[in-house]
Amino acid sequence: MAGVRWASKFFGLFLLLAESCQILAGSVTTNNPNPVVNEFSEVLLSCITTYDQNDELRVEWKKLNAGTDLVYFENELRGDLIDRAKFRESSIYINNVTRKDTAVYRCEVVHKEKGYLGDVSVNLTVQVKPIAPKCAVPKSVPVGKTAILTCNEHEGYPPSTYTWYRNGDILPGDPKSNPKFLNSSYKIDSNTGTLRFTVISKLDIGEYHCVAENNVGHAKCEPQHMEVYDINIAAIIGGVLVVVLVLMIITIVIRLAYKRGYFAKKQPPKGYQASSKADDVDYVRSNPVDDEGDFRHKSSFVI
Ligand SMILES: *[C@@H]1O[C@H](CO)[C@@H](O)[C@H](O)[C@H]1NC(C)=O
Ligand SMILES: *[C@@H]1O[C@H](CO)[C@@H](O)[C@H](O)[C@H]1NC(C)=O
Ligand SMILES: *[C@@H]1O[C@H](CO)[C@@H](O)[C@H](O)[C@H]1NC(C)=O
Repeated sequence: MAGVRWASKFFGLFLLLAESCQILAGSVTTNNPNPVVNEFSEVLLSCITTYDQNDELRVEWKKLNAGTDLVYFENELRGDLIDRAKFRESSIYINNVTRKDTAVYRCEVVHKEKGYLGDVSVNLTVQVKPIAPKCAVPKSVPVGKTAILTCNEHEGYPPSTYTWYRNGDILPGDPKSNPKFLNSSYKIDSNTGTLRFTVISKLDIGEYHCVAENNVGHAKCEPQHMEVYDINIAAIIGGVLVVVLVLMIITIVIRLAYKRGYFAKKQPPKGYQASSKADDVDYVRSNPVDDEGDFRHKSSFVI
């Protein structure tokens, strides 16, 4: 019994509500809540109102990004849409969208006296082609070392994914899947564009380039050559010995020169000691600073 009483009460309430709304029965809808379009194409931000008293109604559009921008207000388009959009019925037709148009737009229907009636949101996504990515390929890497090649661009939307090529052949995600790359030690992160060789070998020598791609387009960087060279331990030790020997000879010559008083007339005695110490420090330091490239270079004189 209590149930029936409750039901009749609710039904009464419902009738009351329906009556008060009757004058303005209607809805605000859209036939495309999530349009996805390519940059520089056209799009319709659809808004459909079914309220009958059309002359009493006002449609407003707002763009909800960081703040809220008025797009259509007081029967006029606003902001940068003025030149490239049209208002039709309650919808907005944009004839040349740009990436900056990506946003949620809200169509609001207002009764001139009674105020706010309802709204609908349209989430516009503008897709952008990738631009040519920036690629970094090391010019020369010693055998057995790690090498990291990077590739990225930040214009594409949705964000690009990346593929790498060597001498025009695509590098498979798993090197083992292609006999050409079987013995290579690389890993590719297709989301960041990083190609990483943990242990590089002479098989990895080649021209490398990368392609950035999303569902709108693709773009590539120019191929760059990566060289891999042997480190010849004997040559390095030989090179180091020659350098040390040369430095020792120079030091001895300078010391002898001091002793014989070649510089005596130019500076007071305190000055010589200081500069002679400074020279020593420099020679000692110049050894570890030399990198492998230098050793390699010098080794050609040794052999
Ligand atoms: C669309 O706008 C871009 C700049 O925002 C312009 O370069 C391009 O020419 C326009 N395209 C058309 C078809 O109006
Ligand atoms: C709009 O759509 C995009 C995907 O196209 C989605 O990532 C985003 O979260 C949506 N925004 C809102 C506010 O619904
Ligand atoms: C890979 O290495 C194996 C032995 O380590 C060798 O037999 C094979 O020829 C190599 N493959 C390539 C493509 O160099």
